[in-house]
Amino acid sequence: MSDNDLYAVIGSPIQHSKSPWIHNEFATQTSESVAYQAVLGDESNFSGSVDAFREQGGQGLNVTVPFKQEAFKYADKHSERALRAGAVNTLVFQADGSVLAENTDGVGIVTDIQNNHDVAIEGKRVLILGAGGAVRGILEPLLGQKPADVVIANRTVSKAVQLAEDFADLGEISGCGFEAVEGRFDLIINGTSASLAGELPPVPKTVIDTQSVCYDMMYGADVTVFNKWADSLSAAKTIDGLGMLVEQAAESFFIWRGVRPTTAPVLEKLRDLLKS
Ligand code: ATR
Repeated sequence: MSDNDLYAVIGSPIQHSKSPWIHNEFATQTSESVAYQAVLGDESNFSGSVDAFREQGGQGLNVTVPFKQEAFKYADKHSERALRAGAVNTLVFQADGSVLAENTDGVGIVTDIQNNHDVAIEGKRVLILGAGGAVRGILEPLLGQKPADVVIANRTVSKAVQLAEDFADLGEISGCGFEAVEGRFDLIINGTSASLAGELPPVPKTVIDTQSVCYDMMYGADVTVFNKWADSLSAAKTIDGLGMLVEQAAESFFIWRGVRPTTAPVLEKLRDLLKS
């Protein structure tokens, strides 16, 4: 029997998750006694899957598609950013039996942009493409960096407008359709799932100039469709979501263990694995 503390990522499907690999790298690097598994959740009984994991001694879970909203309901205490996101990717099973919910996705992207890529968000014009769960999850930490303004553009305009209304108390934020976006932006984040279908959100080319930093929340072995488009328009920099993945994992690890892993070598190794 291992006496390591038990954690896992739960999702459905789950076999392609990189979280076990990342967390095992963190555990080795920090000498923390952590065992981290992948759990295939039951789509008709999420709470049953979580209960079973806790009965095995599980101390915390990362939560991925399609359970982020259900994990929100399962928890009884929520951080401010989990409340804002309406979805959680990190659960902490506390000694008193209560379940704490966090969302580390937004911290992940902000840390990747600012620390790993040395791009400041404060005072910048930010355009976000998409208005789904992934975008909702990043808005609170992003607005916390005090950008000059944030424009959310989405295929379904009403969702962009609603999302902007929901976060209007945190900063200058508005919503519109893709064609209605005006002007150029310092930072453009693609949070749509269009690239899964190899498609581009139909936003005017003029949003990108040679000073623009473009961030695709997706990643893959090859440059994403969105980042290829941004490169073709001579964007200053294009970044994919692999760093966000590693940084959100590091934040979860910190919440559970109180120890912050060094992410750069893990990200570098993961990039090599992805390419090979
Ligand atoms: P996620 O959790 O990944 O955010 P989601 O909540 O289903 O998933 O949201 C997907 C986002 O990608 C939405 O903003 C969606 O636009 P709609 O709100 O109009 O559905 C966007 N999206 C998906 N496919 C797209 C496409 N082909 N072109 C543009 N936007 C697309």
